[in-house]
Amino acid sequence: MLEQRQITGTNISVSPLGFGTVKLGRDQGVKYPSGFTIPDDKEATALLELARSLGINLLDTAPAYGVSEIRLGDLLGNRRKDWVICSKVGEEFEGGESSFNFTSEHIRFSIERSLKRLKTDYIDMVLVHSNGDDVNVIEQYGCLEVLADLKKEGLILASGMSTKTVEGGILALEQSDIAMVTYNLNEQAEKPVLDYALENNKGILIKKALASGHACLDGEDPVEKSMELVFGHPAVSSAIVGTINPKHLKQNVETCLKVLNGLEN
Ligand SMILES: NC(=O)c1ccc[n+]([C@@H]2O[C@H](COP(=O)([O-])OP(=O)(O)OC[C@H]3O[C@@H](n4cnc5c(N)ncnc54)[C@H](OP(=O)(O)O)[C@@H]3O)[C@@H](O)[C@H]2O)c1
Repeated sequence: MLEQRQITGTNISVSPLGFGTVKLGRDQGVKYPSGFTIPDDKEATALLELARSLGINLLDTAPAYGVSEIRLGDLLGNRRKDWVICSKVGEEFEGGESSFNFTSEHIRFSIERSLKRLKTDYIDMVLVHSNGDDVNVIEQYGCLEVLADLKKEGLILASGMSTKTVEGGILALEQSDIAMVTYNLNEQAEKPVLDYALENNKGILIKKALASGHACLDGEDPVEKSMELVFGHPAVSSAIVGTINPKHLKQNVETCLKVLNGLEN
């Protein structure tokens, strides 16, 4: 069973593995190695129950993940409080295409819509969903200030940005609580963001820890090697891994426990 740890610099406790929900809500415009069928309600409920029983308490979703938020709202029902939910603002996905809107009006609208979809009155973490132009998004639109206001109002408990550049990741950490960063066997260019977080007591969530599944295609024990890399960096609070395969979910939790035990000893 996974033990929870605090996201550095926040009061939020999460499991070291989070459950990514892209594949519960969207099957278009994704870059996984193979096609898949979105799980039906029975399968999705079983996955969520399995994740929770293995100690996972962090769910990662976004308006841009198709019907992910609305499904979570329906599927979690009165068990919402058993979970820490991370959602996003800024990216929309409609008719098979992404678009971005970082204005303060849209951010407020989006969070109110997420609250309704998730059937809740607070969201634990909300991150700006970057279009790749991180620094410009932060400086031009002041999105992180808008999120800070929503935090003061109690609608969200922590804020940050899912970034794609070193400069953006560091700027996001200067102005908010958490950066969600890509860090895996294939891509480590954003490691300086992790180093900055460690030095400055800020929270790091990892996305694409298995390189969206591409890391699993070759090499010896790629899940273990991926987790050794990710959890080998002490700034990492949690890695969000997406899977709709219960066997993979169990394997990922077992491997995470093994790697964390190895790091402790
Ligand atoms: N904020 C952002 O901009 C952003 C961007 C990308 C992702 N994310 C978040 O991060 C989550 C994870 O990212 P991701 O889905 O792109 O990549 P990922 O977690 O690195 O990889 C997911 C892929 O790996 C496969 N997989 C998982 N465990 C496996 C195992 N034990 N053995 C073999 N294959 C395995 C999954 O297939 P199966 O389903 O067959 O297991 C899935 O196709 C997303 O769901 C989302 O919540 C955020």
